[in-house]
Amino acid sequence: MLLQHQTWQEVEFYLTHSTGIIMPIGSTEQHGPNGLIGTDAICAETIAAAVGDVADAMVGPTIGVGMAVHHMGFTGTMTLRPSTLIAVMRDYVLSLARHGFRRFFFVNGHGGNIATIGAAFYEIYAEFEGAFGARQDQELVCRLANWWDGKALSDLSKEVFGDQDGSHATASEVAVTQYVLPKTIKQAQMDPPKAPSGRFHGPADYRRRFPDGRIGSNPSLATPEKGQRFFDASVAELAKTYKAFMEEKS
Ligand code: NI
Repeated sequence: MLLQHQTWQEVEFYLTHSTGIIMPIGSTEQHGPNGLIGTDAICAETIAAAVGDVADAMVGPTIGVGMAVHHMGFTGTMTLRPSTLIAVMRDYVLSLARHGFRRFFFVNGHGGNIATIGAAFYEIYAEFEGAFGARQDQELVCRLANWWDGKALSDLSKEVFGDQDGSHATASEVAVTQYVLPKTIKQAQMDPPKAPSGRFHGPADYRRRFPDGRIGSNPSLATPEKGQRFFDASVAELAKTYKAFMEEKS
């Protein structure tokens, strides 16, 4: 149930039986030689929409540009500074809170967003509750759920890709985009097949150490069929997590 496909009266009716909303958040950044620049936004958006269907939950508009300063050495990448992303999340959440939404379940597609999302939650709590707190039945709660998290997904990653999934431009995220957008599938040489791993300290250093953009991954192993397995596993996990989140007492 996408917020953008409802009328205002339908949203008002939804709020009579639930105050929960799923918020997809991704990134617009390079994903190696065969990965789409929109990979993280596409994964978050499509998985969140499917979780909304399974859990009968409202799904808000995707935050499609995230915190990707470290990817700016690669053409086409866009970024919000952490402070801008915090401001955007704050305005999304408080707009919806004005109408009565109280539980915000962020389905995240980008590891680089995690620290900023955590900071944004506290900015939002500080503003919503101020120095005085909220009545317990009115508390606003935000929760972060990365689509790739949990044992089911890490077991699947080991089973399908062994040690080749990697940590950026992963085989699994590229496979998910191939499943949901088969017309965009790209072929590319990977040299070496499995990219190097390691740390970096900024955009120039990232590009120096990881010249084609991948970290630790071999996304030439991605196929739409494998992507469907990750998509389905993630939707099942996140639907469970969302339901548990909605049942928690504040
Ligand atoms: Ni990614």
